[in-house]
Amino acid sequence: MREIGAQQAQIEGNNSNGSGNGNGGDQFNDGGGMAGPPQGLIERLKDYGQEDAFALWDELSSDERELLVKDIENVDLSRIDRIIRCSLQSHALPAAAIEPVPESSVSTVEDRKLEDRERWWKMGMKAISEGKLAVLLLSGGQGTRLGSSDPKGCFNIGLPSGKSLFQLQAEKILRVQRLAALSQNEGSTDIVPIHWYIMTSPFTDDATRKFFESHKYFGLESDQVTFFQQGTIPCVSKDGRFIMETPCRVAKAPDGNGGVYSALKYSRLLDDMTMRGVKYLDCYGVDNALVRVADPTFLGYFIDKGVATAAKVVRKAYPQEKVGVFVRRGKGGPLAVVEYSELDSSLASAINQETGRLRFCWSNVCLHMFTVDFLNQVANGLEKDSIYHLAEKKIPSIHGYTMGYKLEQFIFDAFPYAPSMTLFEVLREEEFAPVKNANGSNYDTPDSARLLCLRLHTRWVVAAGGFLTHSVPLYSTGVEVSPLCSYAGENLEAICRGRTFHAPCEISY
Ligand code: UTP
Repeated sequence: MREIGAQQAQIEGNNSNGSGNGNGGDQFNDGGGMAGPPQGLIERLKDYGQEDAFALWDELSSDERELLVKDIENVDLSRIDRIIRCSLQSHALPAAAIEPVPESSVSTVEDRKLEDRERWWKMGMKAISEGKLAVLLLSGGQGTRLGSSDPKGCFNIGLPSGKSLFQLQAEKILRVQRLAALSQNEGSTDIVPIHWYIMTSPFTDDATRKFFESHKYFGLESDQVTFFQQGTIPCVSKDGRFIMETPCRVAKAPDGNGGVYSALKYSRLLDDMTMRGVKYLDCYGVDNALVRVADPTFLGYFIDKGVATAAKVVRKAYPQEKVGVFVRRGKGGPLAVVEYSELDSSLASAINQETGRLRFCWSNVCLHMFTVDFLNQVANGLEKDSIYHLAEKKIPSIHGYTMGYKLEQFIFDAFPYAPSMTLFEVLREEEFAPVKNANGSNYDTPDSARLLCLRLHTRWVVAAGGFLTHSVPLYSTGVEVSPLCSYAGENLEAICRGRTFHAPCEISY
């Protein structure tokens, strides 16, 4: 395992602007405690209208004063000030008009011929066997809706095997690596590891690393996994002032899954990818039990199209479904994603008379492919514009919970910067089993995700000539196929033909 530990401080507090200890030497008295407030730091806070952070200085013990100074020194004040100003300004502007995605930007399932699929699969396999693909997992979310105290990836959705989401993903990587080696040379044991970059946050980092260690990386080589942390951003009141969580700490929140771009830049992982010869990055969210990690077909399609980025999409199930959809921003503008809450309900249900589909029907499911070249460019573009989404939330503060803003970027914020982009439709019953809400909620629960997995795998087994018996109704059970023996339904004939399986059970070697 490679560890990138120090970038948290780099992201929050790249002190090259002079906000750091250079100004603070005067505040330490001989006994190691704090005397008066550190003037240099106060002046800098005043420059940005944030001097209230020191309002309770006189009431703090000397240890607390030290904590407060360290906390503020770790914030890159000029960067954060730019982000707050640009985001508040942009929030006040009317959103640009949207248009549906042009048909020519989407590869639909019905358009694809078998020969295309086979060609893309082979192209993808070749690139994987040459070490050109890495995968990146977004795993910094707090998973509040799921309500588990562990990182979401540790969650066991109740499959017969009891495997966690992390384990299911690791085993898919193991399987693709093996298939890639075999595709180049039948009988080959020469496996080229797919490097796995895992983005955590201060809320998930420690537990994620420990989970991987205690499970021996699920059979992967420990040095093919790199953990890195996304940054955090101070939470602010509506007029842009820091909210103090305690008298000596600013309230902070992770900078959203789009924090991945600056985290990759500050932790120099894009250089790390280049050094490894990686050209393409497959990026996905942790909470999809059917995710096809490192999908060779998608990769082959991506290489074939020669675009800077691509996203898998599924058709929106119904107009008011709570998913973001792809749109075109402005007339002839770039592809972008609009959150369901931002899409007017009449637009959400408008029909395209020619296709009979919803006008805005392509749902974003957080499955993206990027070239490493584009990732190198986009971090700078996003940093320069400094526009974050403002999420109005209850923030813990010294005055109890107070309404304020968390500032976040989303992974899809990069798309408008892409010189070229295309969408790749996939079937939700094959690739999308979201785990968002706790069991008992109406949708996207561990139970619903488990059933989606069991149903798909049951179809694979039956198609491969297997039979099922079951003592509970078939709609509530099924068989699970270990990713170690099949990635997408292949290779099952030898294991299943003529055999009967008693559901629920796992089919493994
Ligand atoms: P969600 O938007 O579903 O958020 O994340 P969440 O934190 O998992 O869940 P809630 O909203 O608190 O219930 C989509 C993906 O983005 C990642 C998540 O880990 C998940 O893979 N994510 C989210 C991050 O990596 N960082 C973040 O700051 C937020």
